Amino acid sequence: MEFTTIKGFRDILPEEASYWQEIERKARGVFRTFGFGEIRTPILEYSELFTRSIGSDTDIVSKEMYTLTDSKGRGLTLRPEATASVARALIQNRLYQQGGVQKLYCIGPMFRHERPQKGRFRQFHQINAELFGDAGPKSDAEIIYLAVSLLNKFGLRDLTLHLNSIGCPACRPGFRQELKTYLADKARSLCADCQRRSETNPLRVFDCKVEGCKTIVSDAPVIVDFLCKACQGHFSELKDYLVDVGMEIILDPRLVRGLDYYTRTTFEIQTKGLGAQNAVVGGGRYDGLVRQLGGPDVPGIGFAIGMERVMTLLLEHGKQDRARPDLFVAALGKKAEMMAFRWVQQLREEHLWVEQEYASKSLKAQMKRAGRLRCKKALIVGEREIDAGAAIIRDMETKQQTEIPLGDIVPHLTSLVEREKRSDTN
Ligand code: HAM
Repeated sequence: MEFTTIKGFRDILPEEASYWQEIERKARGVFRTFGFGEIRTPILEYSELFTRSIGSDTDIVSKEMYTLTDSKGRGLTLRPEATASVARALIQNRLYQQGGVQKLYCIGPMFRHERPQKGRFRQFHQINAELFGDAGPKSDAEIIYLAVSLLNKFGLRDLTLHLNSIGCPACRPGFRQELKTYLADKARSLCADCQRRSETNPLRVFDCKVEGCKTIVSDAPVIVDFLCKACQGHFSELKDYLVDVGMEIILDPRLVRGLDYYTRTTFEIQTKGLGAQNAVVGGGRYDGLVRQLGGPDVPGIGFAIGMERVMTLLLEHGKQDRARPDLFVAALGKKAEMMAFRWVQQLREEHLWVEQEYASKSLKAQMKRAGRLRCKKALIVGEREIDAGAAIIRDMETKQQTEIPLGDIVPHLTSLVEREKRSDTN
């Protein structure tokens, strides 16, 4: 039997992993400027955490969770998303007692048993941002600005911001009733799931991917027409903030998002480059979540970026520069190989990426390998160079060669490579 990954799961090999590291590095840099601290929560949680927060009528909870039972018969689930876990951690560790606003980010794998397709995996990765402790529209605007800043930092363009408000416990019941009445008339044309949902949780009919249900929903009443004064005020102030910082908004009154914990603001950042799976970011406000999980009344808002989708967009548009070794050290003859081995280790301590040949090979073979690795420069040293007291440094692109004295070779090479790096970034 040949072992392979599970369907919808995949290996990220070193070349691609280097792009992932770059994205994570950029994300951490942006988070720092917005004052977000990292939180790392477990991948496995009690199933009830997700059932209670995401909602039992959602696709995620009803169909997509990877759940197992522990020896005491308790359900454990591989996290399908991070918001519930971060809210649990906020409560369990009493982070809210620090007062003010808590700004947390986390990066890592999530698991959903969905049908795999382009941009959709069963293990996928998210960059999550969650802000707790402020209920006003300024934090919504900041969270959305943060999401856009991250995507811009990654090099993504041509994105659209879709925005909606889905009201609060004061105004949503009125809308739910209106929607229920509308759907009751059409119950026979709805899929079996939506027939049930139209009774138990009618908002979830908006998430259905069945064509017939989508058509019915396209004429359904929309929640923005039912918002209470406070929700209207919040939404309009949020739009003012976003417009003021130059953001273009697409108002999307059917954007309810597939998780039950949202209140007021919901948003997605979409792109045309991904086919059906067009959302790169999904997020929204969840003012009741912390309380619902047994904590105090702490409001929150956040989002998650789908890292596979970011990667697909960047790789398809060739926007990622592959990292290249700084130097290849080619040595000919035992004496030179010993010297070169020592230099290679010393140069690495100076933070240079240095490659060498492991077997004793001809200069031609070593240069071929340096080329294949896309090294920027090669240092060549053999008996003749040792006798002459100078090695050769070759620019692998222009093929130009110069000499470099063997004395103090490590500091010389380090400053040469650093100088070129600086002129590359200018
Ligand atoms: P979500 O919309 O379920 O929201 O997921 C957010 C993003 O994760 C999506 O826009 C997409 O880019 C990516 N994603 C979701 N499912 C998959 C999949 N199967 N394969 C690849 N990428 C996927 C949430 O998860 C919320 N927790 C976001 C949030 C945070 N809301 C408030 N705070």
